[in-house]
Amino acid sequence: MALCEAILCALLAVVVGGLYLAGAFRKRRANEPPLAKGSIPWLGCALDFRRDGVDFLRRMQKQHGDIFTVLLGGDYFTFLMDPLSFGTVVKEARAKLDFNEYAHELVNKVFGYEPSQTTHKIVESASTKHLKGSGLVVMTQAMMDGLRTVMFHSLGSAEGGKRWRQDGLFHYCYNAVFRAGYLALYGNKSHESATDSQEAKKDDFQHSEEVYNEFRKYDQLFPRLATSTLSFGKRKEAEHLKRLFWDLLSVKNVYQKDNISRWVSDQEQQLAEEGMPEYMRDRFMFLLLWAAQGNTGPASFWLLLHLMKNPEAMEDVGKEVDRVVKESGQEVKPGREVINITKEMLTDTPVLDSAVEETLRLAAAPLLIRAVVDDMKLKMNDGREYALRKGDRIGIFPYLAAHMDPEIHPQPHVFKYDRFLNQNGTKKEFYKNGEKVKYFTMPWGAGTSMCPGRFFAVNEMKLFAFLMLTYFEVELVNKDEEVPPLDKTRYGFGVMQPAYDVQFRYRLRC
Ligand code: HEM
Repeated sequence: MALCEAILCALLAVVVGGLYLAGAFRKRRANEPPLAKGSIPWLGCALDFRRDGVDFLRRMQKQHGDIFTVLLGGDYFTFLMDPLSFGTVVKEARAKLDFNEYAHELVNKVFGYEPSQTTHKIVESASTKHLKGSGLVVMTQAMMDGLRTVMFHSLGSAEGGKRWRQDGLFHYCYNAVFRAGYLALYGNKSHESATDSQEAKKDDFQHSEEVYNEFRKYDQLFPRLATSTLSFGKRKEAEHLKRLFWDLLSVKNVYQKDNISRWVSDQEQQLAEEGMPEYMRDRFMFLLLWAAQGNTGPASFWLLLHLMKNPEAMEDVGKEVDRVVKESGQEVKPGREVINITKEMLTDTPVLDSAVEETLRLAAAPLLIRAVVDDMKLKMNDGREYALRKGDRIGIFPYLAAHMDPEIHPQPHVFKYDRFLNQNGTKKEFYKNGEKVKYFTMPWGAGTSMCPGRFFAVNEMKLFAFLMLTYFEVELVNKDEEVPPLDKTRYGFGVMQPAYDVQFRYRLRC
C-alpha cells in the first residue's frame, strides 16, 4: 500500500512538474501584456499559429490590442504589432534583447551548424567589404555573368530563341536567379584554354541545374523542418539532402572552382583561422547558400508577375530600362553578345526601385525574434510601459503590422508600382496616427540582424528584370490568371512563395 502511494505521489509530482514546465500555471502579472495560453498544455496556440500565422495574429490583435503574449510550443512570445514602437525593440542593446540565441537554435536544427561566438561578426564584416561599395561592383558583374550563362545558353541560335517556350513562371525565375547567384558566389568550373572555356560554361550550366533541383527539394521541406513538424519519412529525406549539400559545398569541393567570391572565401578562411573544424565549415557553406539564394528567386518571380499583370507598370519600368541601356551606349541586336549591365547602370532606376520595394512589401514576411535576457520594461511609442519576463521572446511580424496596414499603405493588397515615389521622383514618407513611420516596410529585418546581403539582393532582382525586359517578350498563358495566393506555411521565413505556379510564354525579341 505504502509503495502504491509513493508511486502515485511520484506520478502526481511528474504530472504537476510537467504542467508547470509546460506553462500551465503561468498567470499574467501586473503590467505584463495580455496573455493567451491556448487550450493545449505546452503547445498553447502553436497549431493555430502554424495553420495561418497572419489570421492568428490578426485575431489576437483584435482581441488584445497591439501587444500580447502567446504560448507557442513551450515558449512565450510577446508580439509587438505597433510599427511606431518597433524602434524600442530594434534598437535595444543586445545585453537586454538578444538576437543570437534563437538564430543559433534555428541554424543548428536546420543546417546542423553550430555557430561560434564570432560567426555573426564575421558575416557582418565580410558583407560590408564584399556586398557593398566596390565589392558590390564585383559581385554585380559576377551575377551578370551568371545570368548570361543560365538565361541565354539554352536558347541556342538567335533563330531558335525566337520560338515561344512555355514554363512555370515561378520555376523559371527561381531557377535562373538561383543558378546565376550560385555561380557568382561559389565560382565556376576551372578551365585552362579558350576551348576549355566553352566546355566549362556548359558544365556550369548543367551543374547549376542539378544543384537547383536538389536545393528546391530542401527548400520545400524547410518550413516544416524549422518548426519540427516533418513526418519521419520527410525527416529522413531532409537529412539526406543536408548531407548531400555538406558534401557538394564542402571546403574541399568549393576550392576546386575558379572565381569563388571573396564573400564566401573570406568568411570560410576567418572561421578556419579561429579554429573551427573543417566539417563545421562545410555546414556553414550550406547555411550561406540558403541565406543568399532562398529569397531572391521567389522575389524576382513576384516582381515579374506583378509587372505582367500591370501593363502601366510594365510600360514605365520598360521605358526606364530602355533609357538606361541607351545611355550606356549599348544596343541589343540579333546575334550580338548579350549587353553588360553594371552596378553603375542600376543606380539610376527610381521607378524599378519603387516596383522592387512594392514587390517586397507584398511578398516578404520575415519574423524577427529576440530573446529577453533579463526582466525588463518595454516602453511603447504612446508612453505605455509593459513588463517582459526573462526567458520569453519578443516577436515582430512587419508583414501584418506594417506592410498590410491600410493606414500606412492604402489598399494594401494592391500592387502599386510607384507607391514609394513622389511625383517629383523623391522618396515618399509614410504616416500612421499623424506620425511619421520609420519602419513602414521591413523586408530585410532591422537592427543587428538586418540582412547584410540586401544591396546585392536588389541588384540580383534588377539585373534579372533588365534582361527579361530587354531581351524577351513575355506573356501569361492564361491572360486572366489571377495572382496566386501565398503559401501560408512559409510565413516568418522571408520571401513568400505562391501556393501554385502560373504558366507563361517567353521568346527572344530579336
Ligand atoms: C530578396 C532577398 C532577400 C531577403 C528578403 C532577405 C531577408 C533577410 C532577413 C529578413 C534577414 C534577417 C533575419 C532575422 O532577423 O532573423 C536576413 C539575414 C541574412 N541574409 Fe538576407 N535576404 C535576402 C537576400 C540575401 C542575399 C542575396 C544574401 C547574400 C548574398 C543574404 C544574406 C543574409 C545573411 C548571411 C543573413 C544572416 C545574417 C546574420 O548573421 O545575422 N540575404 N536576410
